[in-house]
Amino acid sequence: MQQSELDFIQSLRQSSHYIEQHRGKTCVLYIPGELLENGERIQTLSRDIALLHSLGLKLVLAMGATPQINKALQAQDIAWQHHHQCRITPTEILPIFQQTIGQVRSQLEAAFCQASNQQQKPISLISGNWVIARPKGVVDGIDYQHTGQLRKMNHEAIQACLESKQIVLLTPLAYSLTGEVFNLNTLEQACEVAKLLRADKLMVFQPENQLQNLPAALNQVQLAQLTAELPDAQKLLFGRLQTLSNAVKRIHLLNQEDPSSLLLELFTRDGSGTMIFSDRYHQIRQASIEDVGGILEVIAPLEQNGILVKRSRERLELEIDNFIVIERDQRIIGCAALYADYHDSGELACLAVHPDYQGQELGEQLLEEIEQRAKHKRLQQLFLLTTHTHHWFIEHGFYLASPNELPMQKQQLYNYQRNSKVLIKTLTHS
Ligand SMILES: CC(C)(COP(=O)(O)OP(=O)(O)OC[C@H]1O[C@@H](n2cnc3c(N)ncnc32)[C@H](O)[C@@H]1OP(=O)(O)O)[C@@H](O)C(=O)NCCC(=O)NCCS
Repeated sequence: MQQSELDFIQSLRQSSHYIEQHRGKTCVLYIPGELLENGERIQTLSRDIALLHSLGLKLVLAMGATPQINKALQAQDIAWQHHHQCRITPTEILPIFQQTIGQVRSQLEAAFCQASNQQQKPISLISGNWVIARPKGVVDGIDYQHTGQLRKMNHEAIQACLESKQIVLLTPLAYSLTGEVFNLNTLEQACEVAKLLRADKLMVFQPENQLQNLPAALNQVQLAQLTAELPDAQKLLFGRLQTLSNAVKRIHLLNQEDPSSLLLELFTRDGSGTMIFSDRYHQIRQASIEDVGGILEVIAPLEQNGILVKRSRERLELEIDNFIVIERDQRIIGCAALYADYHDSGELACLAVHPDYQGQELGEQLLEEIEQRAKHKRLQQLFLLTTHTHHWFIEHGFYLASPNELPMQKQQLYNYQRNSKVLIKTLTHS
């Protein structure tokens, strides 16, 4: 089999878990106008969104059109004004907004028709008058005219569209109960609809420079700390995201310059952007000396049952650099160790997940992380000894071997009385 085929199979295996996880989930995507400026990018994005739809995600898209409106105004030599980072929409230029937004919308609809052609069933992208606006009014003596603010949203109607397998599109145009048209920030709309639908995910595309130096994952407390330190331009976005608090489980910030960021974020373990989570979330990381107590809590009951070989606190402290841990809400709930001391082989040891958290594939994630580390060290194989868990390892690509297949140093230490099973996995390097 060729390497590209192996890579394909590996990726399919890795992503299948996420495909199942995302099915039926509600996802709101904020798509800034910058992403819709070039035909090729619109097509790539539509294809990816169509793929998500075919995998069973319920999708709401909130599209912006700022650069397109700027260009249309420039083409007619019309200057525009902002106040508090918000564009003023004078009555006489409202038709330019309507026309431009209509054009962007029709480009997107056309791209979805093309993307739909590659799917088994046609996809309908639907928009409507679900968003009710009111005037932003006069602030500091400045009249915002047709710039509106959100008054309410008919989210039941949006939900009904999602249930009937349609993709919902929100545009910057919204209407007042007096029948006027308003220009309404679509990020604000995206946040509101995500909150009202209690969406599982809100995905927000942002310019690359806004995402630099952000960690891969943030909880609500870290988000609040970060927001306080940010410059004003970024504060607006992060402040808005903070108000979503517990209503949306996960908010993902994606790089709008990277066309693959959407699929990478959803279907790979490490994702591609920054995730803000309000549900319980775990992270796998290198262990440090402070984790020794937490690791002992996980492994001590298993040592007492004879499932793991006993390790003293002192030995654990000395060997802590070999360990990784899995942490959730500041609690160690799993661990594993890699001893890379055997030429091109490494020993996987002490893989354990706290009983309260077993069956959530955390063991598998720890194993994957150990394998990554082993590959990074250019090891060719992993081996381990176990008395109770050989079936689990066989299901995860190991094969049963005999003690004389162990590295020589390890063979000399093999305890024939314990009679552990020997398991080996060959590592594939890309
Ligand atoms: C092995 C272990 C790390 C797996 O962790 P986990 O997070 O529950 O693993 P996953 O969620 O990825 O896998 C769960 C599956 O493995 C199965 N499994 C768990 N222990 C198993 C064992 N000893 N033998 C065979 N299968 C086992 C579970 O039944 C479950 O299968 P199911 O989904 O069909 O019900 C965990 O069970 C554990 O801590 N065991 C005790 C320590 C140990 O034996 N370590 C290995 C020696 S180094």
